[in-house]
Amino acid sequence: MRLVKRIVLMVLAGLVGLMVLAAVAVYGVTEARLRKTYQIDAAPPAIPSDAASIERGRHLVTAVSMCAACHSANLAAPDLAGNLFLDIPPARLGAPNLTGGAGGIGARYTDADWERTIRHGVRPDGTPLLFMPTANFYHLSDADLGAIIAYVRSMPPIDNQAPASQIYPLGRALMAAGQLALPAEDLDHRAPRIPAPPLGRTAEYGRYLTTISTCRDCHGANLSGGPLDEPGAPPAPNLTSGGALRGWSEADFIKAMRTGVNPAGKQLDPFVPYRYIGKLSDDELKATIYTSKPCRPPRWARGRHGLGAAETDFVLFVGSFCPQGKKEPTKVGIRPFQCRISPFATPRSCRLIESSMRRSSPTLGSMVG
Ligand code: HEC
Ligand code: HEC
Repeated sequence: MRLVKRIVLMVLAGLVGLMVLAAVAVYGVTEARLRKTYQIDAAPPAIPSDAASIERGRHLVTAVSMCAACHSANLAAPDLAGNLFLDIPPARLGAPNLTGGAGGIGARYTDADWERTIRHGVRPDGTPLLFMPTANFYHLSDADLGAIIAYVRSMPPIDNQAPASQIYPLGRALMAAGQLALPAEDLDHRAPRIPAPPLGRTAEYGRYLTTISTCRDCHGANLSGGPLDEPGAPPAPNLTSGGALRGWSEADFIKAMRTGVNPAGKQLDPFVPYRYIGKLSDDELKATIYTSKPCRPPRWARGRHGLGAAETDFVLFVGSFCPQGKKEPTKVGIRPFQCRISPFATPRSCRLIESSMRRSSPTLGSMVG
């Protein structure tokens, strides 16, 4: 009996030892990613000072790019003075005070610091931010980024310290398992800037707008809908033609986004950020709806792809949206921004899949019309 007890104890001690070793390894691996410094050649835009640009900045901060939704506790009168944005088992995320007050970053940030943080997800000391929709903001034009910085700088300084962000053990385990990436890890920091289309009621501008806004975070890279990760959230509907908006007029769309009630009289789930989206101008909303209408339904492939150690399920979209008045898409192909592999898909994994599709298409996965 004694011997059995001893063996059981030894096995248990061994298991505990292994768990401690695994925890140390997870900590070490994730800490290296969190402390990594990124050298980024900042390309700060010119910062305007005229009233129209500052007003444009206000619109971007409070409606289009929704900075205020995270960086303000006071949603009725956003002051950008910081806010505990999220506290869930993987991480606590404090969105810092952006003003020049005590506890804020406004007084010490240079133009280059703003550009690196917003477009690249990298702090002034070179370390990566834990979270920010940087993949969207990466596409901000110089004019829009300049306007955002000008507006944030014009805010009255407020003394407030937002809670510090922290990754909890579950978050570290997810990071180590390749399930959670830091925004800076997903971006090509050296790629040339993509010129933004001119402001207007065009499909190109709509595509830009739905990218620097948040639509694609929930409705998918191709706006074709899908389930969301958040517990209790309804699935995000398909916004492309033939989807949820079939039969809607522009006026129906604008009304739904302004009131939160769709043409069928259904009150949209409070999860839909229509309080922000509804602040978009009529022209912006019309541009948004043009984007959502492909001239023919996108084709897609489903399959599995081995990426190093991990095999990933992916759904890859092929097809593009028509510019106004044209019947055929101008660009047909597999593009990273149309590639939705999993909620954690990175541009790198998209590129890998893209190149393997080029090589082995169409045998990879099954094409569905
Ligand atoms: C979905 C929520 C969300 C949105 C939208 C958002 N942020 Fe953030 N932001 C955060 C969080 C959370 C952090 C802190 C990340 C961390 O601690 O690593 C952060 C960090 C920052 C920082 C870095 C401050 C520092 O620690 O040095 C700046 C600057 C910033 N945000 C500006 C903006 C601007 C400008 C916008 C809009 C264009 C914006 N953010 C939109 C959540 C958000
Ligand atoms: C945080 C996630 C999220 C974001 C961001 C988001 N949506 Fe949605 N959206 C949803 C969900 C979830 C629904 C379904 C709501 C429901 O069933 O009540 C929805 C519904 C809609 C509907 C109504 C469809 C219908 O059948 O009535 C429209 C239109 C829409 N979204 C457009 C947009 C646009 C345009 C953007 C960007 C400017 C956007 N959404 C951003 C999650 C989101």
